[in-house]
Amino acid sequence: MESEMMKKKDDLPLVSSYWSVPRNEIMKEDGIPRNFRLLEELERGEKGIGDGSVSYGMDEGDDIYMRSWTGTIIGPHNPWETYEADLSIDLSKHHIPKTFLDKVAFRTVKLLRVPTDIFFKRRYGCRAMMLETVAAVPGMVGGLLLHLRSLRRFEQSGGWIKALLEEAENERMHLMTLVELVQPKWYERLLVLAVQGVFFNCYFVLYLLSPKLAHRVVGYLEEEAIHSYTEYLKDIDSGAIENVRAPAIAIDYWRLPKNATLKDVITVIRADEAHHRDVNHFASDVHFQGRQLKEAPAPVGYH
Ligand SMILES: [Fe+2]
Ligand SMILES: [Fe+2]
Repeated sequence: MESEMMKKKDDLPLVSSYWSVPRNEIMKEDGIPRNFRLLEELERGEKGIGDGSVSYGMDEGDDIYMRSWTGTIIGPHNPWETYEADLSIDLSKHHIPKTFLDKVAFRTVKLLRVPTDIFFKRRYGCRAMMLETVAAVPGMVGGLLLHLRSLRRFEQSGGWIKALLEEAENERMHLMTLVELVQPKWYERLLVLAVQGVFFNCYFVLYLLSPKLAHRVVGYLEEEAIHSYTEYLKDIDSGAIENVRAPAIAIDYWRLPKNATLKDVITVIRADEAHHRDVNHFASDVHFQGRQLKEAPAPVGYH
Protein backbone atom coordinates (compact mmCIF):
# COMPACT_ATOMS: atom_id res chain seq x y z
CA MET A 1 0.00 0.00 0.00
CA GLU A 2 2.75 2.34 1.04
CA SER A 3 4.83 1.55 -2.04
CA GLU A 4 1.79 2.21 -4.19
CA MET A 5 1.45 5.64 -2.65
CA MET A 6 5.13 6.31 -3.20
CA LYS A 7 4.74 5.32 -6.82
CA LYS A 8 1.77 7.62 -7.19
CA LYS A 9 3.80 10.44 -5.71
CA ASP A 10 6.61 9.79 -8.16
CA ASP A 11 4.19 9.95 -11.04
CA LEU A 12 2.97 13.39 -10.12
CA PRO A 13 4.44 16.20 -12.20
CA LEU A 14 7.23 18.03 -10.44
CA VAL A 15 6.12 21.40 -9.17
CA SER A 16 9.22 23.47 -9.36
CA SER A 17 8.24 27.07 -9.67
CA TYR A 18 8.67 29.74 -7.04
CA TRP A 19 4.94 30.43 -6.86
CA SER A 20 3.96 26.78 -6.49
CA VAL A 21 2.44 26.98 -9.93
CA PRO A 22 3.54 24.07 -12.10
CA ARG A 23 5.78 25.06 -14.96
CA ASN A 24 4.92 24.10 -18.48
CA GLU A 25 6.15 20.69 -19.51
CA ILE A 26 9.64 21.20 -20.77
CA MET A 27 10.77 17.62 -21.33
CA LYS A 28 9.92 15.50 -24.27
CA GLU A 29 8.42 12.11 -23.53
CA ASP A 30 11.78 10.46 -24.23
CA GLY A 31 13.41 12.63 -21.54
CA ILE A 32 15.68 14.61 -23.83
CA PRO A 33 15.75 18.25 -22.77
CA ARG A 34 14.20 20.61 -25.26
CA ASN A 35 17.19 22.86 -25.21
CA PHE A 36 15.80 25.56 -27.45
CA ARG A 37 12.93 26.02 -25.02
CA LEU A 38 15.26 25.96 -22.05
CA LEU A 39 17.60 28.47 -23.60
CA GLU A 40 14.68 30.79 -24.06
CA GLU A 41 13.72 30.30 -20.42
CA LEU A 42 17.28 30.79 -19.30
CA GLU A 43 17.53 34.09 -21.12
CA ARG A 44 14.28 35.28 -19.60
CA GLY A 45 15.27 34.11 -16.13
CA GLU A 46 18.69 35.72 -16.17
CA LYS A 47 17.19 39.06 -17.08
CA GLY A 48 14.85 38.84 -14.12
CA ILE A 49 11.12 38.45 -14.36
CA GLY A 50 8.80 41.44 -14.10
CA ASP A 51 10.39 44.05 -11.88
CA GLY A 52 13.55 41.97 -11.57
CA SER A 53 12.67 40.66 -8.13
CA VAL A 54 12.82 37.05 -9.32
CA SER A 55 15.70 35.70 -11.36
CA TYR A 56 16.95 32.24 -12.12
CA GLY A 57 19.66 30.54 -14.08
CA MET A 58 21.85 27.48 -14.26
CA ASP A 59 23.44 26.03 -11.18
CA GLU A 60 26.61 25.45 -13.16
CA GLY A 61 27.42 27.27 -16.37
CA ASP A 62 28.78 24.20 -18.14
CA ASP A 63 25.70 22.04 -17.55
CA ILE A 64 24.93 21.44 -21.20
CA TYR A 65 21.84 19.39 -20.41
CA MET A 66 20.49 22.27 -18.39
CA ARG A 67 19.29 19.99 -15.65
CA SER A 68 20.11 21.87 -12.49
CA TRP A 69 18.61 25.30 -12.02
CA THR A 70 18.83 27.83 -9.30
CA GLY A 71 16.61 30.79 -8.50
CA THR A 72 16.69 33.90 -6.39
CA ILE A 73 13.81 35.87 -5.02
CA ILE A 74 14.77 39.34 -3.94
CA GLY A 75 12.21 40.00 -1.22
CA PRO A 76 9.74 42.84 -1.39
CA HIS A 77 11.44 46.20 -1.33
CA ASN A 78 11.64 47.96 2.00
CA PRO A 79 8.42 49.69 2.92
CA TRP A 80 10.38 52.85 3.63
CA GLU A 81 12.53 55.25 1.69
CA THR A 82 16.21 55.27 2.40
CA TYR A 83 18.63 58.19 2.39
CA GLU A 84 22.00 59.33 3.62
CA ALA A 85 21.85 61.69 6.56
CA ASP A 86 23.43 65.10 6.10
CA LEU A 87 25.91 65.28 8.96
CA SER A 88 27.26 68.66 7.92
CA ILE A 89 24.34 70.49 9.53
CA ASP A 90 25.13 72.97 12.31
CA LEU A 91 24.03 71.37 15.60
CA SER A 92 24.56 74.43 17.75
CA LYS A 93 22.08 76.79 16.07
CA HIS A 94 19.59 78.26 18.50
CA HIS A 95 16.65 80.51 17.82
CA ILE A 96 16.89 83.29 20.37
CA PRO A 97 13.41 83.90 21.75
CA LYS A 98 12.57 87.54 21.08
CA THR A 99 8.83 87.91 20.78
CA PHE A 100 6.34 87.07 23.49
CA LEU A 101 5.21 83.90 21.71
CA ASP A 102 8.82 82.78 21.22
CA LYS A 103 9.34 83.11 24.95
CA VAL A 104 6.15 81.19 25.70
CA ALA A 105 7.34 78.40 23.37
CA PHE A 106 10.82 78.37 24.86
CA ARG A 107 9.58 78.31 28.47
CA THR A 108 7.01 75.60 27.70
CA VAL A 109 9.67 73.32 26.29
CA LYS A 110 12.08 74.01 29.18
CA LEU A 111 9.25 73.23 31.58
CA LEU A 112 8.41 69.99 29.80
CA ARG A 113 12.03 68.95 30.19
CA VAL A 114 11.86 68.99 33.99
CA PRO A 115 9.58 65.92 34.42
CA THR A 116 11.44 64.18 31.59
CA ASP A 117 14.78 64.69 33.36
CA ILE A 118 13.36 63.49 36.66
CA PHE A 119 11.71 60.42 35.18
CA PHE A 120 14.51 59.20 32.90
CA LYS A 121 17.67 60.70 34.41
CA ARG A 122 20.51 59.40 32.21
CA ARG A 123 18.67 56.42 30.76
CA TYR A 124 19.02 57.93 27.30
CA GLY A 125 17.90 54.89 25.35
CA CYS A 126 14.59 54.81 27.14
CA ARG A 127 14.25 58.54 27.16
CA ALA A 128 14.87 58.84 23.43
CA MET A 129 12.44 56.05 22.64
CA MET A 130 9.68 57.66 24.67
CA LEU A 131 10.33 61.09 23.23
CA GLU A 132 10.21 59.79 19.68
CA THR A 133 6.66 58.58 20.32
CA VAL A 134 5.84 62.24 20.91
CA ALA A 135 8.13 63.69 18.24
CA ALA A 136 6.32 61.87 15.45
CA VAL A 137 3.01 63.56 16.29
CA PRO A 138 3.44 67.26 15.28
CA GLY A 139 4.37 66.57 11.65
CA MET A 140 1.32 64.36 11.23
CA VAL A 141 -1.02 66.87 12.91
CA GLY A 142 0.39 69.81 10.93
CA GLY A 143 0.29 67.77 7.71
CA LEU A 144 -3.29 66.68 8.42
CA LEU A 145 -4.51 70.19 9.14
CA LEU A 146 -2.82 71.64 6.06
CA HIS A 147 -4.29 68.81 4.03
CA LEU A 148 -7.79 69.59 5.28
CA ARG A 149 -7.23 73.28 4.70
CA SER A 150 -6.16 72.57 1.13
CA LEU A 151 -9.36 70.54 0.59
CA ARG A 152 -11.58 73.22 2.13
CA ARG A 153 -10.07 76.14 0.28
CA PHE A 154 -9.30 74.45 -3.02
CA GLU A 155 -5.73 75.68 -2.80
CA GLN A 156 -2.25 74.21 -2.97
CA SER A 157 -0.13 73.76 0.14
CA GLY A 158 3.11 74.57 -1.67
CA GLY A 159 4.52 71.17 -0.74
CA TRP A 160 4.23 71.73 3.01
CA ILE A 161 1.82 68.83 3.55
CA LYS A 162 4.42 66.48 2.14
CA ALA A 163 7.26 68.12 4.05
CA LEU A 164 5.46 67.79 7.39
CA LEU A 165 4.31 64.24 6.74
CA GLU A 166 7.89 63.37 5.82
CA GLU A 167 9.01 64.73 9.17
CA ALA A 168 6.45 62.53 10.93
CA GLU A 169 7.64 59.49 8.99
CA ASN A 170 11.27 60.28 9.73
CA GLU A 171 10.50 60.56 13.46
CA ARG A 172 8.56 57.30 13.32
CA MET A 173 11.62 55.61 11.82
CA HIS A 174 13.67 56.95 14.74
CA LEU A 175 11.20 55.18 17.01
CA MET A 176 11.26 51.97 14.95
CA THR A 177 15.06 52.02 15.26
CA LEU A 178 15.11 52.72 18.99
CA VAL A 179 12.63 49.98 19.89
CA GLU A 180 15.11 47.55 18.38
CA LEU A 181 17.56 48.69 21.04
CA VAL A 182 15.34 49.25 24.06
CA GLN A 183 12.43 47.05 25.03
CA PRO A 184 9.81 49.24 26.71
CA LYS A 185 8.37 47.98 29.98
CA TRP A 186 4.62 47.73 30.54
CA TYR A 187 4.41 50.95 32.56
CA GLU A 188 6.39 52.80 29.88
CA ARG A 189 3.90 51.63 27.28
CA LEU A 190 1.13 52.91 29.52
CA LEU A 191 2.90 56.24 29.77
CA VAL A 192 3.15 56.38 25.96
CA LEU A 193 -0.62 55.89 25.71
CA ALA A 194 -1.35 58.62 28.23
CA VAL A 195 1.16 61.08 26.76
CA GLN A 196 -0.05 60.50 23.22
CA GLY A 197 -3.65 61.05 24.23
CA VAL A 198 -2.81 64.35 25.86
CA PHE A 199 -0.15 65.58 23.44
CA PHE A 200 -2.02 64.82 20.22
CA ASN A 201 -5.07 66.78 21.37
CA CYS A 202 -3.08 69.68 22.81
CA TYR A 203 -0.98 70.01 19.68
CA PHE A 204 -4.02 69.72 17.44
CA VAL A 205 -5.75 72.59 19.20
CA LEU A 206 -2.53 74.60 19.37
CA TYR A 207 -1.95 74.20 15.63
CA LEU A 208 -5.51 75.34 14.91
CA LEU A 209 -5.14 78.38 17.13
CA SER A 210 -1.58 79.40 16.36
CA PRO A 211 0.54 77.50 13.88
CA LYS A 212 3.37 79.96 14.50
CA LEU A 213 3.48 79.04 18.18
CA ALA A 214 3.04 75.34 17.38
CA HIS A 215 6.01 75.29 14.97
CA ARG A 216 8.10 77.33 17.40
CA VAL A 217 7.41 74.83 20.19
CA VAL A 218 8.52 72.00 17.90
CA GLY A 219 11.61 74.00 16.90
CA TYR A 220 12.61 74.21 20.57
CA LEU A 221 11.68 70.57 21.20
CA GLU A 222 14.09 69.66 18.42
CA GLU A 223 16.81 71.78 20.03
CA GLU A 224 16.25 69.75 23.20
CA ALA A 225 16.36 66.54 21.19
CA ILE A 226 19.78 67.53 19.79
CA HIS A 227 20.95 68.17 23.35
CA SER A 228 19.62 64.79 24.57
CA TYR A 229 21.27 62.90 21.73
CA THR A 230 24.56 64.73 22.37
CA GLU A 231 24.40 63.53 25.99
CA TYR A 232 23.56 60.05 24.73
CA LEU A 233 26.69 60.12 22.54
CA LYS A 234 28.80 61.27 25.50
CA ASP A 235 27.64 58.22 27.46
CA ILE A 236 28.49 55.95 24.55
CA ASP A 237 31.96 57.52 24.30
CA SER A 238 32.56 57.14 28.03
CA GLY A 239 31.48 53.51 27.93
CA ALA A 240 28.48 54.06 30.23
CA ILE A 241 26.30 52.86 27.36
CA GLU A 242 27.60 49.94 25.32
CA ASN A 243 28.26 50.81 21.68
CA VAL A 244 26.37 47.84 20.28
CA ARG A 245 25.94 47.03 16.59
CA ALA A 246 23.43 49.12 14.71
CA PRO A 247 20.07 47.43 14.13
CA ALA A 248 19.47 46.26 10.56
CA ILE A 249 16.59 48.69 10.10
CA ALA A 250 18.94 51.62 10.78
CA ILE A 251 21.57 50.32 8.36
CA ASP A 252 18.88 50.09 5.68
CA TYR A 253 17.18 53.40 6.37
CA TRP A 254 20.26 55.63 6.58
CA ARG A 255 22.34 53.48 4.19
CA LEU A 256 24.94 52.97 6.89
CA PRO A 257 27.92 50.65 6.44
CA LYS A 258 27.31 47.05 7.52
CA ASN A 259 29.57 47.40 10.55
CA ALA A 260 27.82 50.56 11.82
CA THR A 261 27.31 50.92 15.55
CA LEU A 262 24.88 52.57 17.94
CA LYS A 263 27.07 55.66 17.89
CA ASP A 264 26.61 56.01 14.12
CA VAL A 265 22.86 55.60 14.51
CA ILE A 266 22.54 58.24 17.22
CA THR A 267 24.73 60.58 15.16
CA VAL A 268 22.43 60.38 12.14
CA ILE A 269 19.29 60.69 14.27
CA ARG A 270 20.73 63.81 15.85
CA ALA A 271 21.41 65.27 12.40
CA ASP A 272 17.77 64.57 11.48
CA GLU A 273 16.63 66.45 14.58
CA ALA A 274 18.72 69.44 13.53
CA HIS A 275 16.91 69.44 10.19
CA HIS A 276 13.51 69.31 11.92
CA ARG A 277 14.61 72.18 14.14
CA ASP A 278 15.35 74.31 11.08
CA VAL A 279 12.14 73.33 9.28
CA ASN A 280 9.97 74.22 12.26
CA HIS A 281 11.69 77.47 13.18
CA PHE A 282 11.49 78.40 9.50
CA ALA A 283 7.76 77.58 9.38
CA SER A 284 7.21 79.65 12.48
CA ASP A 285 9.21 82.55 10.98
CA VAL A 286 7.02 82.45 7.87
CA HIS A 287 3.92 82.80 10.04
CA PHE A 288 5.56 85.54 12.10
CA GLN A 289 5.99 87.54 8.92
CA GLY A 290 2.24 87.32 8.42
CA ARG A 291 2.57 84.99 5.48
CA GLN A 292 1.30 81.53 4.76
CA LEU A 293 3.49 78.47 4.53
CA LYS A 294 2.61 77.90 0.86
CA GLU A 295 4.32 81.19 0.01
CA ALA A 296 7.68 79.83 1.21
CA PRO A 297 9.61 76.97 -0.39
CA ALA A 298 8.65 73.72 1.32
CA PRO A 299 11.68 71.77 2.52
CA VAL A 300 10.62 68.50 0.91
CA GLY A 301 13.14 65.70 1.39
CA TYR A 302 14.97 67.77 4.01
CA HIS A 303 15.75 65.52 6.95
FE1 LIG B 1 13.48 62.00 16.32
FE1 LIG C 1 12.82 65.53 15.68
